[in-house]
Amino acid sequence: MKKLSAVLAIAAALGLSSQALAVDEPENVIKYRQAVMKAIGGHMASIAGVVKGEVSFTDHVAIHANSINAMSKAVTAAFPEGTDNGSYKTAALPKIWEDWAGFEKAAQALDTASANLASVAASGDKQQIAVAFGDLGKACGACHKPYRVKQ
Ligand code: HEC
Repeated sequence: MKKLSAVLAIAAALGLSSQALAVDEPENVIKYRQAVMKAIGGHMASIAGVVKGEVSFTDHVAIHANSINAMSKAVTAAFPEGTDNGSYKTAALPKIWEDWAGFEKAAQALDTASANLASVAASGDKQQIAVAFGDLGKACGACHKPYRVKQ
């Protein structure tokens, strides 16, 4: 937070427009998409707390699922060509660009699975929520396995 406000203060002081800065440098795009993924991971961790019964916020599941659904629409654009892990420090595998259609399909599956969890969550049925959550988790793995460096 401190870092961000410092950056904003500097930008304001210099009267910088976004055009004055070099935008979409590969390193920054990589940083950006990793932050998108972290956000998705944060929502998954929150839902996991509910599914495991650690917290009682069952009515929050749809909020998190809808947030993941919104983020899912930002995934493919965050992987422009030239941001592979041959030249940069990223866990994204070159296979993403060799098999772009497959990667898009995997992103679409994230969209579908998160929308499904959001709609199932409305029922409040914990069993159904757990199943839909499991399916959503599989959608993560179905993309990470072929397209991300093994962690
Ligand atoms: C369409 C493919 C795709 C889907 C679907 C996907 N991911 Fe990812 N994810 C990636 C790729 C590729 C990376 C590596 C990005 C990089 O390092 O540049 C990544 C990285 C991550 C990271 C590490 C971010 C960091 O700090 O470097 C987390 C956490 C993550 N994903 C969570 C998730 C979760 C949770 C889901 C499912 C709800 C999910 N992802 C679905 C492709 C996907």
